[in-house]
Amino acid sequence: MSEQVKASVSRRGLLCGMALVGLGILPEAAFGATPAVGIKAVGKKLQLDLTKNKSLAKVGGVVTIPLSDGSSLAVVRTALGTKGLVAMNLSCTHQGVPVEQVGKKFVCPAHGSQFGLDGAVIQGPAQVGLYKYPLTATATSAVIG
Ligand code: FES
Repeated sequence: MSEQVKASVSRRGLLCGMALVGLGILPEAAFGATPAVGIKAVGKKLQLDLTKNKSLAKVGGVVTIPLSDGSSLAVVRTALGTKGLVAMNLSCTHQGVPVEQVGKKFVCPAHGSQFGLDGAVIQGPAQVGLYKYPLTATATSAVIG
């Protein structure tokens, strides 16, 4: 799947996910990472209350938000401060299989691709990093999308 097509699918997934948040309907998280709390739709974006997601207070913390297309979005603390959060889709960029957090990596169970917590490729066959969503943060909230 090309990067451009993947980005389109991922953005559609985020929009569908935001619709579910707006309706208060959220499926279970796709895997055992900490599910995000304090999420609300703001226009076409998601707002995450950082004061309610304590795991994001420290570097390496990860919370996930399930999307209606079956994929998940992860918000990861990669550094301290308002610039130290990234949001990414957890579908492997090789063939779309959901990646799983294993320690300080995201690992794809299908063919073994590995990504850092920042989404960068550590090991193929994936050639590109996990798809990242725009994210802006203040000390108390993050807006994704
Ligand atoms: S689908 Fe993830 S490595 Fe192939």
